[in-house]
Amino acid sequence: MATTAPTGSPPSQPSLTHPPPPRKLTTVKALSESPGLSSIPSIYTFPKQPYHEPVSDTKEPIPTIDFSLLASSHPDERSETIRELGKACRDWGFFMVTNHGVPERMMKAIIEACREFFELPEEEKRGISGKHVLDPIRFGTSFNESVDEILCWRDYVKIFQHPEFHSPNKPPSFTEIALEYSKRVRLVAREIIRGISESLGLEKDYIDETLNLENGLQLIAANLYPPCPRPELAMGLPPHSDHGLLTLLIQNQIGGLQVQHKGKWVNIDPIPNSFLANIGDHIEILSNGKYKSVLHRAVVNNRDVRISIAVPHGPALDAIVSPASKLVENLGNPPAYGAMKYKEYLELQQGTMLNGKSCLERIRNGD
Ligand code: OGA
Ligand code: NI
Repeated sequence: MATTAPTGSPPSQPSLTHPPPPRKLTTVKALSESPGLSSIPSIYTFPKQPYHEPVSDTKEPIPTIDFSLLASSHPDERSETIRELGKACRDWGFFMVTNHGVPERMMKAIIEACREFFELPEEEKRGISGKHVLDPIRFGTSFNESVDEILCWRDYVKIFQHPEFHSPNKPPSFTEIALEYSKRVRLVAREIIRGISESLGLEKDYIDETLNLENGLQLIAANLYPPCPRPELAMGLPPHSDHGLLTLLIQNQIGGLQVQHKGKWVNIDPIPNSFLANIGDHIEILSNGKYKSVLHRAVVNNRDVRISIAVPHGPALDAIVSPASKLVENLGNPPAYGAMKYKEYLELQQGTMLNGKSCLERIRNGD
């Protein structure tokens, strides 16, 4: 278990094909705190204005999975919950997780620890940040500030938690809280992934074993969305799907997440003390497209600071992900996606501009 010293990141290898232009951007936090800010720099203006696109007024609630039933020793309760989990993955790709056993105080503590981290002086936050997408601690603004043509109204810190644990040294409580939180969340995620495996008609441990989840990648990806004077022009995070298998997200009870469902954007209201779960691109690949990773985005508001903490869970970095052979052979389906090492996928997705599901499209086989 290694805690990275603030300056301990290895120097990044500059890419020969796409040398990132040197760019030093102000964080959105600093920008939003400029006195009398009433407009936003044009580089933050998204051409498609999120507030002008239809948001569904559907009253269809997002599915809820009662985790205690999934982990139940009672076979009927478990199998019924697995059916519901499969339906949630097929119909929505997103679901709430209740009764997960992670104490509410831990969820609050990690949000406060991240809030305090974002309050640190800019030079300090920049100082601990690696430059390469696979560096274990990365602080920054927008999505990928060296390539983004339009900037997102968002600052972030991404910290590798597993298989190797890393933590900033400040605020002082961060390490202990992150260690405890990530360990608890990982247990929940692995159990849900076992349920997903079963719901696909695979062995319970198929995904866990094939993708070596014992050494699976887990990050804390904390997002800060400061108030924006022109929320209708800006975007916290543009539409994207997540890499990896399963992301578990919490937030500080300020809404902003929208999920695409039946062609419309749906506002997802925070439910206290629960996780919002979504399946990532690597479940789509592994399931040969039976379950799809779903587009989502974060919009911003002009009143409240919003903090969200996404914890993505992926395969081991060197695991090669391809459609499960059972789902390909049995049904006579050709594999819809090419095989790719998770690490390479991550570099591809995190190193380019966030653009819908364009990364997954690259490895989709032609019809
Ligand atoms: C993410 C993400 C949404 C949010 O970090 O990948 O989709 O509500 N975040 O912050
Ligand atoms: Ni996301």
